[in-house]
Amino acid sequence: MEALQTPYFVIDEDILSGYYQMLTDSLKRSWDNYLIGYSFKTNSLPWLVSFMKKNGAFAEVVSEDEYLLARYLGYDNSEIIYNGPYKSKTSFCSVLLSGGYVNLDSRMEIEWLADLAAEHPTQTFSVGIRANFDLEKMCPGETTMGEVSGRFGFCYETGKFAEALRTLKQLSNVSVVGLHLHSSSKSRSVGIFRSIAQMACRIAEEYQLTLSYVDLGGGYCGGMEGRPEYPDYFPVVAEELSHYFSPAKTRLIVEPGISLISKCTTFVTSVFDTRDIKGSRYVMTDGSRFNIDATMIKTDHLFHVEYAAHDITKRPVREQQIISGYTCMECDRIFLSKYQPEYIPGDRIIYENVGGYTMSLNPLFIQYFPPVYRKKDGELTQVRRKWTPEDYVRGSLFHVND
Ligand SMILES: Cc1ncc(COP(=O)(O)O)c(C=O)c1O
Repeated sequence: MEALQTPYFVIDEDILSGYYQMLTDSLKRSWDNYLIGYSFKTNSLPWLVSFMKKNGAFAEVVSEDEYLLARYLGYDNSEIIYNGPYKSKTSFCSVLLSGGYVNLDSRMEIEWLADLAAEHPTQTFSVGIRANFDLEKMCPGETTMGEVSGRFGFCYETGKFAEALRTLKQLSNVSVVGLHLHSSSKSRSVGIFRSIAQMACRIAEEYQLTLSYVDLGGGYCGGMEGRPEYPDYFPVVAEELSHYFSPAKTRLIVEPGISLISKCTTFVTSVFDTRDIKGSRYVMTDGSRFNIDATMIKTDHLFHVEYAAHDITKRPVREQQIISGYTCMECDRIFLSKYQPEYIPGDRIIYENVGGYTMSLNPLFIQYFPPVYRKKDGELTQVRRKWTPEDYVRGSLFHVND
């Protein structure tokens, strides 16, 4: 069979299903009243979204565009978990009116809610509220925000959270039924989730909240050698939550992204040229750092190589080769290969664990989106074709012949 034209992503459905099953099994065992909200921002490829939907996940969205995409892909308003600081008032109201989950993030949203509640005095609105709290103090050195502070939700320590609750209490047809506590961490450790669960109990007890849900957000590890997996997190979360909540009354919501999809996704690239400049060997590939590390933070990658010619023992070993992308940006250097056989055109470099925050952060820069294949029972089926100039100009209001 002829090799497929690179670059392209592959999502292995069997591995994806395995992770989804691991997630639901461990939630069932630890807290059998649960809900999965798939994090759209992590990767909203329509095929992937439809996989999640078929498997019962709600859509966790953080903008009007993501909300509209969820609706376009068949989600009902009641199947949406609406988070983040950048909601639109119209979509915010639609989700609330239909009984979806909305986690309030700002004073402005409380005002929107007050307007909505006043317009619909006979309806009761159930909302969640996002708590901003000092997780760094509980888990020193582990959080993304560090000692400064997180930017989202209402701050527990400064009293803004309590103030928001007081304002909401004055709205007779509004009740606070949920607590959202997503916090990004560098470690993604079990200890982080223990602390988040402890915080849920502390807040609920202090403010005497009767909650129908606690939403832990995302941020789990999945498929990373020597790191926790879903079954490591939820027994600990359940142990902590049980101090104040019970599955009979309170649903546990999780919003996984990267942990579900990283392990199942690879990015296949080819070497198309090599060049020597002032003692450096540059290996030019048809994949770019923008495809797999758009935020330019990665220092190493998991990958394997398929060499074009089988007998690589005949190739000289190069002390250093700079594996680079196709773009015209100098920073498009993907990794430094040390003491490896010399790369030649036709070699394939296949990056692993690239499902989260890669496709969704791909820019339309120099090359349009690469195709995506789904792998099932060893067979590849295209679920997104390569984007063309026609796709690129689709939203343009300018016509070439005008
Ligand atoms: C509110 C919320 N939920 C879920 C996620 C998904 O996180 P991850 O992909 O790390 O699981 C994020 C990511 O930042 C988030 O902000």
